[in-house]
Amino acid sequence: LRNLGEYIPVDRTIIITDSNVRSYYADDFPNDQVIEIGMGEEIKSLDTVKNIYDALLDREADRSTFLVGIGGGIVCDITGFVASTYLRGVKFGFVASTLLSQVDASVGGKNGVNHGGYKNMVGVFNQPEFVICDTDLLATLPKREILSGFAEVIKHATIGDAALFSYLEDHYEEAITLKSQVIQRLVHDSVRLKSEIVNRDEREREERMKLNFGHTLGHAIEMTNAVSHGEAVSVGMAFASALSERRGYISPGEAMRVENLIRNLGLPTMLPMDWERVLKAIKRDKKRRGGIIHFVFLLAVGVAVVRDIPIEELMNDFHGLDKLINLRPNRAGESLWEVR
Ligand SMILES: NC(=O)c1ccc[n+]([C@@H]2O[C@H](COP(=O)([O-])OP(=O)(O)OC[C@H]3O[C@@H](n4cnc5c(N)ncnc54)[C@H](O)[C@@H]3O)[C@@H](O)[C@H]2O)c1
Repeated sequence: LRNLGEYIPVDRTIIITDSNVRSYYADDFPNDQVIEIGMGEEIKSLDTVKNIYDALLDREADRSTFLVGIGGGIVCDITGFVASTYLRGVKFGFVASTLLSQVDASVGGKNGVNHGGYKNMVGVFNQPEFVICDTDLLATLPKREILSGFAEVIKHATIGDAALFSYLEDHYEEAITLKSQVIQRLVHDSVRLKSEIVNRDEREREERMKLNFGHTLGHAIEMTNAVSHGEAVSVGMAFASALSERRGYISPGEAMRVENLIRNLGLPTMLPMDWERVLKAIKRDKKRRGGIIHFVFLLAVGVAVVRDIPIEELMNDFHGLDKLINLRPNRAGESLWEVR
């Protein structure tokens, strides 16, 4: 963050950030041209976008203005959308300040906001000039937010990087204590994997769908139960692994490796929840696509495949799957978090 001035035209740059990030890091911002937004998913709306357009007009921002989003996925998503549409597009960059935004949200060129009760309903594909992932900023990030980032790191390793997966199995304790060297490797390898996938399939025609591993169920859980994104996706990944095992794509041992890694990092593989509502939410969401789900299965740790399956078939598959998942509590990850 302190080197940001080297990447931008400082005198023509306007910073977009949220009040939280500003309160921690304003002293390190390259100038005091700051548009501040609030926090939470509700802020990721067209109303906020409109307020930012107004603030840009007030400051007489023109085509030479450079926008920098400093914050988590919400700030980055909004900044990218505003920059892509204001005056038909001005240049922009991100300083990703949450683990989730460093390993996931800031990479890939999707910029958008929520609308009409749907997530990311309005948006564009557009790439920033740069993304800075300053892992020092994670020192102030709450545990819940770190966990959301870990869930996406596990996802990346599981779908496409067996070496990263093994590294995580060996270094999860240091990851939890945010050991710099370990976190930098996780961020670096996640960014590399996601950017390789996006380079091959920017518009999500096929391969990019692998990034939805654990998210079909995860999104439905998040929508219908009071759990965080990271927790919901973790349960979704455990189920997708178990389903891959049940279909004979992977061995029970491989599915167990995924479950153990999730638990070791302090995330759940199962939660008490209203399954009826979860399954209804999947049905409701996917009906729009003709009753077919693009579901991400594992062929091995580090190898994923997308298969189209009818929604009813998936519902049958889910039945009793929780019994297949190993429910032995593994408190290693949790106790390590207490130490941290
Ligand atoms: N564009 C994409 O490809 C993509 C991919 C994944 C997720 N997303 C989006 O990202 C959003 C979630 O992002 P997120 O998890 O970063 O959430 P977030 O942006 O809401 O940040 C989480 C919280 O952490 C605070 N925070 C940020 N940096 C901090 C720091 N360094 N120290 C202390 N607190 C800090 C924020 O103020 C906020 O309260 C969702 O809206 C999701 O849809 C987008």
